[in-house]
Order: sequence, then C-alpha cells, then structure tokens
Amino acid sequence: MNVLQIEGGFRLRGEIEVSGSKNIALALLSAVALCKEPVTLRNVPRISDTHMKAHLLEEFGAKVDWDGNNLTVDCSGLKMGYPSEESVRAIRTSFYMLGPLLARLGEVELPAPGGCKIGARPVDYHVRGLQLMGAEIELTGGKYYAKAARIKGADIYLDFPSAGATQHLMSTAVLAEGVTTIQNAAMEPEVVALADFLRAMGAKIEGAGTATITVFGGTRLHSCSFRVPADRIQVGTFLLAGAITEGDVSVVGIMPEDQTAVVNKLREAGAQVEETSETVRVRVDRRLEAIRIRTMPHPGFPTDIQQPMAATLTLANGTSVIEETIYESRSGHVPELVRMGANIQSEGRTSIIHGVKRLHGANVVASDLRAGAALCLAGLAADGVTTVENVHYIDRGYEAIEHTLSALGGKVKRVAVEPRKVR
Ligand code: EPU
Repeated sequence: MNVLQIEGGFRLRGEIEVSGSKNIALALLSAVALCKEPVTLRNVPRISDTHMKAHLLEEFGAKVDWDGNNLTVDCSGLKMGYPSEESVRAIRTSFYMLGPLLARLGEVELPAPGGCKIGARPVDYHVRGLQLMGAEIELTGGKYYAKAARIKGADIYLDFPSAGATQHLMSTAVLAEGVTTIQNAAMEPEVVALADFLRAMGAKIEGAGTATITVFGGTRLHSCSFRVPADRIQVGTFLLAGAITEGDVSVVGIMPEDQTAVVNKLREAGAQVEETSETVRVRVDRRLEAIRIRTMPHPGFPTDIQQPMAATLTLANGTSVIEETIYESRSGHVPELVRMGANIQSEGRTSIIHGVKRLHGANVVASDLRAGAALCLAGLAADGVTTVENVHYIDRGYEAIEHTLSALGGKVKRVAVEPRKVR
C-alpha cells in the first residue's frame, strides 16, 4: 500500500496553480448524458473519481476519449446499463446520472448510493424532484428503477439547498417539456459552472447562483467544448497549508470570490491575505489566533474546508470552535490530530480546539478525503515525520498532492509500504 511520508517543519512558500474542480467535473459527467452530440471537457482532473465516472458512462454506451486533461464524451449511442452497486457506492454522484439518463432513455435502473463516512447522505430531494417532473420511481432490492414516458417541467422546492439535488434536477429539467423552477436552490459555484456548461450546450437557464433557478426545457442541445474551472476546495486547502506552516503561498488562475469565507476567516485569525482578480496570497508571520467557524451552504464557510481548517487551528493561540452543520459525522480527522498532539474535544458536531504550541509526527489514518488533506497539513507543521495511510481517499480529490506540496517546499513523499497486519 502507499502512504504519504511528510517531514514537518518547513514553511511553504511560492506560487501554484490547482487542477480543475473535482466536483464540477463530476457534475458535468452526469450532464453530458443529456446531449446526443460529442462534448469536450477541458481541464478535467485526472483523479480516481473522474476516471470511474467516465467508465460508468461507458457502461451506458457512451464513447469516452481522454487526451491529457481533455475528455471527449459521445453519448449519441446511449443505452441501458447495469452498473454495479460498488461503482455507485464508490462515487455518490453516479446516482446523480439518474435524471439525465431517464430523460434520454425513458427508463433506468441504478443502485441506491448509500451513506458514507461523513454522514447518511440521503437522496430524497433528488427522488422527490424527479417524481414532480413525472418520473415513476421505485426502490426495490437496493436499486432505484425509474420510468417516464416524458419529463415535464415542475415547481420544485428543496427543504435544504442541496448542491447535488440542485445540479441533478437542473440538468434533468433541460430535457423536460416546459419550465422548471427550483426554489431554495444551492448557490455553490459548482452549480453556476454546471449552468454555464448546460448553456454552452444550448440550454436556457436563469438564476443559477441564486436561490431560485428557472430552466426553460426542451431546447436542442449541441456539442460544445467547456473548460472546468479551478478547484476551489484545493485552493482553500493549499492556502491553509501556507497558513499552518507560517509560510507565504499564492494560488493563481482562480476565482478569488469563491474563497470569500476562507479568506475572511484567515484574516480574522491574523493571516495577511491579498487578492487580485485571479490570485489569492496568504502570508503568516506569527502564530494564528483562535476563531469560530460554522459550516454553511455557499456563500457560508464550506464544509469541505472544515477539516483542513481544524488542522490549522490546532496550532492557533486560544480556543477555536468549529460547528459542522452540513454533515452528521465529518470528524474522522479529530482522533488522528489528537494522536499528533492536538487538544480537541468533540461534542456532537462541534469541535472545541484548544491550540497547542507544537504537533508531533505520528502514524495517522485518513478516514475520508478532506480528513486526509487535514492530516497532510498537520504533518507539514509537525515536528518529525508523519505517515498518512489511506492515501486513496486523498487521491480522490487532489491530483498527486505530494507534488503540489513539494513544489511549495514541503517535504512530502509517496512511499510503498507493507500493509499493516492488525489495525
Ligand atoms: N441531503 C438530504 N437529501 C438529499 C440530498 C442532500 O438530506 O436528497 C442532505 C445531505 O445529507 C447533506 C446536505 O443535504 O447533509 C448537503 O448535501 P448536498 O446534497 O449539498 O451534498 P452533495 O451534493 O452530495 C456535494 C459535494 C460534497 C460537498 C457538498 C456540500 C460533490 C461530488 N460532492 O455533495 O463534496 O461536501 O456538495 O457542498 O459535488 C468533497 O468534495 O469532499 C465533498 C464531500
């Protein structure tokens, strides 16, 4: 198995670019199924999730052609497919293909996605929205079977501004007859990017990025070439890598407006942050101060940055409080950070972090993607060597994280080791 070995104590300095966004690429790789002509996605991150999703499209008859970070998908010959339960469980957004496939094929069967280590993650808003659009949906034997002679426009209200449900229903509505409105829609940048992509294929959509989205269905979709924007969660992670090591890190080629929550909280903690139209630079020259964080739907503080931020605050002066409001159990990083010397009390979804002066290297295990990123950050700032196991989680969201961190002066290596016999 591979582990990441991190020798801590080096300040990260320099300028980097990040890859295209995982979550945008995954949303686009559901929506491509809507189009009968080939579509080219540029700047697609070469991570395990995008490969698996592309493979899943092939199971439904799509032709998929990678050329570096460009991916051309031809869904002209789409047909019924029977993906395994493992593949839908492995990447949750596989399930978000249900609507686009249904709109194209009239019927589709997909395994239920199931929960994961950060929470139960039900799909009730997705199912209810598709039903309002005329789908008949049954869940039997762990599989959803959906049928619809035609998909029609509907007025949909989401109980919570779910990013996935907004993206799924907005995409499906493009092939519906009539107008669909989605109220209490998610306002995440990933929703805006998806709407840009759908419009590039000929869809008519208004309001993406606000709480009310209107889709005028039934337009003819055509080929397009679309560049996946930079990954805002990677941006936040690497800015925090600069902050935790009291370094000086700039991330270029990004949309700074997507970093507002992270930037403001870093400033509140005492970091110096400069923004230009395409760059954010974070400099820290003294110990950060404790702050309070509450995760919220966009434009609130992103849940996906909560764990890396927790790692950063373990070394801040004073007591920080982080409240996770999106997921029930996004706290797998906590016991591992404690192994490294952090002083954290968990109470339900709240972490109370009493800042310590030093962390020390240890063998730690990533419980999920962002927990893994948090442990890498802690390792960069710790005394001695940290070994992070379960690198496959980190690989789901960061293309070769060791290269990016090394480019900034971190001492990070991927090393093959014998699997441990007893956990
Ligand atoms: N929810 C429901 N019912 C639904 C849908 C969602 O109760 O039908 C709940 C979820 O259980 C959760 C909340 O609503 O408590 C928000 O979930 P959302 O649907 O917004 O999440 P998602 O679309 O499944 C995407 C990202 C996540 C990110 C969230 C929130 C992708 C592939 N995943 O998930 O990214 O945390 O939005 O911004 O786009 C990550 O990258 O590490 C990651 C987990």
